[in-house]
Amino acid sequence: MRLLLSALLLRILAVAIALQSPVSIDTLSGVPSSGQSQVQLTSGAYGLDAPKTVPINGSSFDWWYFDVVSPDLDYSFVLVFFAATSNGMWANTPDVGSAVYGSLGVSLPDGSFIEGDTVGSELVVTTLGDGSSGDLVQSGWSWVGSPDMSLYEVIVDSPSAAIQGTITFESTSPAHYPCELASAGAGQSLHLGGPDFGWANAVPDANAQVDFNFNGTKVKFSGAGYHDKNWGGSSVPSVVKAWYWGHARLGPLAVVWFNVIAPDGSEHVSSYVTRQGQVLTMACANMTVRATGANSEWPPVHGGGEPGGFHISAFVEGSGTLEIDVVHKLRLSADPAVTMYRWIGNVSGGFGNGIKWNGSALYEAFAF
Ligand SMILES: *[C@@H]1O[C@H](CO)[C@@H](O)[C@H](O)[C@H]1NC(C)=O
Ligand SMILES: *[C@@H]1O[C@H](CO)[C@@H](O)[C@H](O)[C@H]1NC(C)=O
Ligand SMILES: *[C@@H]1O[C@H](CO)[C@@H](O)[C@H](O)[C@H]1NC(C)=O
Ligand SMILES: *[C@@H]1O[C@H](CO)[C@@H](O)[C@H](O)[C@H]1NC(C)=O
Ligand SMILES: *[C@@H]1O[C@H](CO)[C@@H](O)[C@H](O)[C@H]1NC(C)=O
Repeated sequence: MRLLLSALLLRILAVAIALQSPVSIDTLSGVPSSGQSQVQLTSGAYGLDAPKTVPINGSSFDWWYFDVVSPDLDYSFVLVFFAATSNGMWANTPDVGSAVYGSLGVSLPDGSFIEGDTVGSELVVTTLGDGSSGDLVQSGWSWVGSPDMSLYEVIVDSPSAAIQGTITFESTSPAHYPCELASAGAGQSLHLGGPDFGWANAVPDANAQVDFNFNGTKVKFSGAGYHDKNWGGSSVPSVVKAWYWGHARLGPLAVVWFNVIAPDGSEHVSSYVTRQGQVLTMACANMTVRATGANSEWPPVHGGGEPGGFHISAFVEGSGTLEIDVVHKLRLSADPAVTMYRWIGNVSGGFGNGIKWNGSALYEAFAF
């Protein structure tokens, strides 16, 4: 009922019906399957944001990740819908008693955090065209996506936890797979690095609005939004050894980087740059992402300390090399035992032609 009241959902359904978008519905149970998961690692004609690992068994994982960071870095919001057992995730992942659950973290201007978790009995994902909508049943957490992925909304309506709110995302930049734009259609590789680590980036950059109430604490801001998903048939540390991932907005540019060390030690990169929504670069080549300052050893080592910052070089045909420095403003989460870090920070850089921009970024370092 709650979903049916969403004005955005009604608009999306109207468009989907008018376009006769293909529809599929997957019910991911909170009770993991004892069988094999079907893992999709090649794109279809539609369904970019659909479940890719069905059913979830005792080692597979599939998640839908959303974030927003404000331009002044005062606020950030990360919210993830997970379909996985603790076995499918990394060390120290608690067993929450269901294979479908959600987690959110908000950073406030004074550097403090609000955190929230929920579990569902099942996660029902409806895919219309390329966009998906998910209902984490019995939690009040859901998301809605349009068939062309231009609009997304995350909705939390949880009176028992006293959390209510919405995040809306209006995409500025086209969706992509690891090495190709989504417009390349069916038959594209969906794995980044190792053969079993899937990634699809439905919303690389969005104008996002957050409007939440956490038991009387209002969190309302706008900023750069982002949405993607990752998945794999066996546990996260068995399909990827390490990554540097992040997204940034600076001046007219939106940048997404994903630099991965595969289980065999090989390095892989996905470089994505748009300028006012027009794609400048989409390639699994011609980008380097390196830590700077303290603990900047390459490749990143499990148990390594917190890197001081990052430098990203991305070659853009016709424009030269984009050089960006990323400096931390705030660490959002850290688990040195895993090793995992997530931060917000400011970015500055340009193409070396005298024009420099600065802006905001949200980014991670993982090493298993
Ligand atoms: C889950 O499914 C994947 C893919 O079929 C398989 O490789 C893996 O062994 C399965 N895990 C378990 C615990 O059965
Ligand atoms: C909300 O805040 C009130 C007042 O501080 C507190 O009594 C109550 O337990 C909180 N509710 C939840 C669900 O945290
Ligand atoms: C990488 O850059 C070189 C020029 O330095 C260019 O010729 C090549 O096409 C680029 N590769 C990709 C995949 O974009
Ligand atoms: C980051 O932002 C702060 C506050 O806006 C500013 O003082 C600082 O110079 C910025 N640093 C970079 C590298 O842009
Ligand atoms: C960021 O931009 C502001 C305003 O354009 C400028 O004053 C400042 O020097 C920039 N900071 C960096 C680190 O480039």
